[in-house]
Amino acid sequence: MERFYTFFFVAGLGCFGIAFLLSMVFPWMSLNEYHGMDYQTLEQLAATPSAEFVELQQSYPVRFEEVYPGGVTSENYAKALQLGRDLYIGQACFHCHSQFVRVVSNEQQRWGPPSEAYEYMNALNQPHLWGTRRVGPDVARLKGRHTNDWHIAHFINPKNVVPYSVMPAYAYYFDADGTPHEEGFALIAYLQWLGTTYNPTH
Ligand code: HEC
Repeated sequence: MERFYTFFFVAGLGCFGIAFLLSMVFPWMSLNEYHGMDYQTLEQLAATPSAEFVELQQSYPVRFEEVYPGGVTSENYAKALQLGRDLYIGQACFHCHSQFVRVVSNEQQRWGPPSEAYEYMNALNQPHLWGTRRVGPDVARLKGRHTNDWHIAHFINPKNVVPYSVMPAYAYYFDADGTPHEEGFALIAYLQWLGTTYNPTH
């Protein structure tokens, strides 16, 4: 029996090695399936500023010009998206929100089919923010779900719009009259961007 020990040991190491390699190869294959769905940089994502970003500029022209000299440009939009994502991480929004439509809680009825790898092939989704806890709803495809005004009312005091909400207020990103600070603009630009890489006819 003892002469087999070395054999089992080597076989065990071999199996570990194969499993290790496959756990790299399979995810890579699932990404590669989406030919043409190449990784997008922040500059590419921000090439065309969203209608919501334009609307922020129209609603708050003075503050917008202070924060973003030059107005609605790709560079300013990129800056807003990056800061929005940084704040989402820094404020630990991911403790309560996921960014991954899953096959639970009839989520598909609200957001469509479960999230796929190609949706995350870009600078604003890597490292991904899938999250694990879901005190609040998934936000992976939030774009256009609410208006900018709704977001402002909600950030200032979530109970303004959802009376039973347990989400904390982020009123310090806004003036008392609702005018956003740079952080307010950035968070809204980012939230209104989430889901733009999802393609329902994929
Ligand atoms: C303590 C948990 C908690 C934290 C932290 C939290 N939220 Fe929420 N959030 C909730 C809950 C609960 C709801 C659902 C009720 C509501 O709409 O207020 C919600 C709702 C939302 C909605 C509306 C989603 C929808 O589908 O209608 C948005 C947008 C949102 N949160 C953004 C954020 C952002 C951005 C942050 C970080 C700055 C954040 N939340 C931090 C708990 C949280």
